Amino acid sequence: MSQLDHKSAAWSALFSEPMSDLVKRYTASVFFDKRLWQADLAGSLAHAAMLARQGVIADADLAAIRQGLAQIRSEIESGAFEWKLDLEDVHLNIEARLTQLVGDAGKRLHTGRSRNDQVATDVRLWLRGEIDLIVVLLADLQQALLTLAEQNVDVVMPGFTHLQVAQPVSFGHHMLAYVEMFARDHERMLDVRKRVNRLPLGAAALAGTTYPLDREWVARELGMEGVCQNSLDAVSDRDFAIEFAAAASLVMVHVSRFSEELILWMSQNFGFIRIADRFTTGSSIMPQKKNPDVPELARGKTGRVVGHLVALITLMKGQPLAYNKDNQEDKEPLFDTVDTLKDTLRIFAEMAGGITVMPEAMEKAARKGYATATDLADYLVKKGLPFRDAHEVVAHAVKAATAQGVDLGELPLAALQQFNPAIAQDVFEALSLRGSLNARNTLGGTAPAQVRAQIARHKARLQ
Ligand code: ARG
Repeated sequence: MSQLDHKSAAWSALFSEPMSDLVKRYTASVFFDKRLWQADLAGSLAHAAMLARQGVIADADLAAIRQGLAQIRSEIESGAFEWKLDLEDVHLNIEARLTQLVGDAGKRLHTGRSRNDQVATDVRLWLRGEIDLIVVLLADLQQALLTLAEQNVDVVMPGFTHLQVAQPVSFGHHMLAYVEMFARDHERMLDVRKRVNRLPLGAAALAGTTYPLDREWVARELGMEGVCQNSLDAVSDRDFAIEFAAAASLVMVHVSRFSEELILWMSQNFGFIRIADRFTTGSSIMPQKKNPDVPELARGKTGRVVGHLVALITLMKGQPLAYNKDNQEDKEPLFDTVDTLKDTLRIFAEMAGGITVMPEAMEKAARKGYATATDLADYLVKKGLPFRDAHEVVAHAVKAATAQGVDLGELPLAALQQFNPAIAQDVFEALSLRGSLNARNTLGGTAPAQVRAQIARHKARLQ
């Protein structure tokens, strides 16, 4: 039996009584941190190779370690590997099995290393891989929204402020607003990745080590951008995880805002869109219902991810240097953040392709809310009125139109002229939805020409 078969023997003979089962269960992390196994193997392989290069262990030991870790890899992949609660975490489980397989060479692997720098390295390697998947999913979602935008550049919907009809906008323009948000999220993830991708290994427990380690070599071997430059900081800070959770929370907040709109738009009161049946569910009691469960759940799961951010940042705040066991609590929130985010992004990219737009309902709603009132004011300004006076004139016109239950453009010219004699026949073009849209032809505006230019820019960017 190897020394590591029982955890009580993993550190020393100092302990005079075994750990209680409750404490064992309370302190163990193996049932969730085993998810880090690939990163743990990668870190160990790089560390062992460096130890041999530096003459700290013999080449024969390195060969044995490689062979043992290869076997462990296939055991884990096939499901044959036996994870033991007694061995606390992923690191001790793998190391114990290695020693069982290759004897003393296995016991030499941990030379110049601590689980403190080991776990920080594993989490960073794992998270780097996940970020690489997430940025691909973010690009897919942007692409899907871009397609939806492109198909609907000329569809006019009411734009809202305070959820009151404000001015007409192109539905494509509205979709591009989300493309912008997810583009920034994409950027943010890539920026976080730079700080995730630094190497703690070699910090050992907290102070560095007495062996002549080549940390820069290990960093290169693991594809990391650099080495954490202070051993105390390297083993203890989890700011990289917090930053990631913050970036993930923002993605979810953007998804949640989009969800809220989809939910409103597919309600009977709006009727702006339909979502493909495969993303909705029925009611067990009301036969007529189609409920937007997917966007609702995404909105709900946003709370969960933001909660993980709060958990992680709170975890950090009271910790003295250097490593504390509190940090073991970083994993479950981080894992769940990644899982929730990836599933959400996947499902939204798919769902965007299943949205049917109802242009008549959107236009009708835009007409109902005097969305072109600002255009009448702008029209009067161009005829020489100061904007504030024009604003006042239009308020009277809207009041009169409201009393008659018609849109501004439905008032006869003579009626409009009563509000201001400068009004002429060309006012009707200004008051039309399309006229209003076309007039907003400034960079970033909703004129179809601008929207098309933005679509082209995004397409080139996402290439
Ligand atoms: N399972 C631990 C964690 O996740 C590994 C590091 C433990 N280090 C220690 N000194 N107890 O943080």
